[in-house]
Amino acid sequence: MLRLKPWKRLLRPMKRILSAPEHAMQERLQKIISGAGITSRRKAEELIVEGRVSVNGHTIRELGSKADRDRDKIRVDGRPLPRLQGRTVILLNKPVGYVSTMKDPEGRPTVISLLRGVKERVYPVGRLDFHSSGLMLLSNDGDLANFLLSRKSQVPRTYHAKLEGIPKTEDLKRLERGIVLDGRRTTPCKIRLVHERDKPWYEITLVEGRYHQVRRMFERTGQRVVKLKRVHIGFLTDHGLAPGKFRNLTPSEIDRLKNWKPSGPAL
Ligand code: URA
Repeated sequence: MLRLKPWKRLLRPMKRILSAPEHAMQERLQKIISGAGITSRRKAEELIVEGRVSVNGHTIRELGSKADRDRDKIRVDGRPLPRLQGRTVILLNKPVGYVSTMKDPEGRPTVISLLRGVKERVYPVGRLDFHSSGLMLLSNDGDLANFLLSRKSQVPRTYHAKLEGIPKTEDLKRLERGIVLDGRRTTPCKIRLVHERDKPWYEITLVEGRYHQVRRMFERTGQRVVKLKRVHIGFLTDHGLAPGKFRNLTPSEIDRLKNWKPSGPAL
């Protein structure tokens, strides 16, 4: 009779359970690749079609293909996906004069250069213009990034914008209701005056992030934005975070973002 050490006897049924096919976690390859934080889901689809992705040594080119993140050996351009553990989400207070991309063809400083001591390869979640300052998130958690950038997440972003002059109240009301930008209506937003002066400061809260959205919206009132700062992302604020400084989000802050539920119809 086969004699097993007591602890091995305990492990045997456990192994059987873990390897049972019904426990296999099959997901679409593009979701696994973007979830690993190396690129967006659309780019991951391109990588698959281009034959740059392999599963257990076989090149996969079909878009519907599924795999198991934990069991299958998934490689992109021959390199294994980063490990799932150690998800990092960083909150940075970006100063003016930094680009929010990984590299800049014009050689301007990038936000990545501010992250001294951060070993993980993190990517900016969304953009903040070179001339804008304030809060931005950087992460190696592709699922979180995709969620925050998707239209359905509706995590509000609040900005303070200094305008060149005083806009008309009815123009601000129009912005709040929504205007057409690039052929699509903007989601309703909230605007309030925060400093009344010749060049007033307004606070604007958006639940979407389109290209140069705040600047382009205020331009429709005839008043150019001369300074722009993002002061809130959902419940996150810049309190205690001087320009150029960053901090890691806590696990409970990450959970709150991941489980963000829009409250009511937009704002
Ligand atoms: N809207 C803009 O116009 N610029 C930014 O940087 C962010 C939002």
